[in-house]
Amino acid sequence: MLDDWGLRRGGGRGEAVTALFVGESGTGKTMAAEVVAGALGVDLYVIDLSTVVDKYIGETEKNLERIFVGAEGLNAVLFFDEADALFGKRSEVSDARDRYANVEVAYLLQRIESFDGVAILATNLAANIDDAFRRRLSVLAEFARPDAEQRLALWRRMLAGVPLAADVDLAFCAKAFGLAGGDIRNAAVTAAYLGAAAGTVGMREVIAAVGLEYRKLGRLCLADEFGPYLDLLPR
Ligand SMILES: Nc1ncnc2c1ncn2[C@@H]1O[C@H](COP(=O)(O)OP(=O)(O)OP(=O)(O)O)[C@@H](O)[C@H]1O
Ligand SMILES: [Mg+2]
Repeated sequence: MLDDWGLRRGGGRGEAVTALFVGESGTGKTMAAEVVAGALGVDLYVIDLSTVVDKYIGETEKNLERIFVGAEGLNAVLFFDEADALFGKRSEVSDARDRYANVEVAYLLQRIESFDGVAILATNLAANIDDAFRRRLSVLAEFARPDAEQRLALWRRMLAGVPLAADVDLAFCAKAFGLAGGDIRNAAVTAAYLGAAAGTVGMREVIAAVGLEYRKLGRLCLADEFGPYLDLLPR
């Protein structure tokens, strides 16, 4: 298409498809990247940016260059997870460290442009991605927190193979607990562990698992969310 319709631009621009996945933790960004790679029938090449970013000047660029050169022969989808480790607002330079971080981001931007493949970046913090970077992206996909209906589908899917007692009210869980997909997955697995010895998972196990998830998230277990099930929480 780029050739036939004369859309190939000059200036060393490659045929890269670059996507940015933005959304809170547990909304499915990493999973979606796996799905994209799976649908294309290629591997997902995950780059942990915290191991790439180096405190010595110039080292980050060298590390990135090695990754791109390696990836170009691989036929894989490049996935930069936790990309906010690298992106700050490039314009707001407050000290020398920031200035070098800007050089690193500029390098990554330029390198992605000449990359001939699919590159996906994921971040929790949309505000940290500056405009110059947005302009260079092919796709910006926002991952929203699931609404009550989607949460019900997530609960049902996560517990589909688990023997549930008759008192389990997943509709209540979906409506009452504002959890992301990843949190629901964690709670479902915890509930299954709690019920494993008895061979069945009841509402007591589900509520206890949600309570543990709330504690991890630093949220209080309050009566207006847990309603009639507040008493099921382990003391
Ligand atoms: N929309 C969804 N549909 C199905 N499962 C989901 C969805 N969202 C999240 N999950 C489940 O939650 C798990 C965690 O999601 P994932 O690791 O992709 O989140 P993330 O957005 O990458 O979070 P983080 O920002 O913390 O890395 C997935 O492995 C999957 O089981
Ligand atoms: Mg992730």
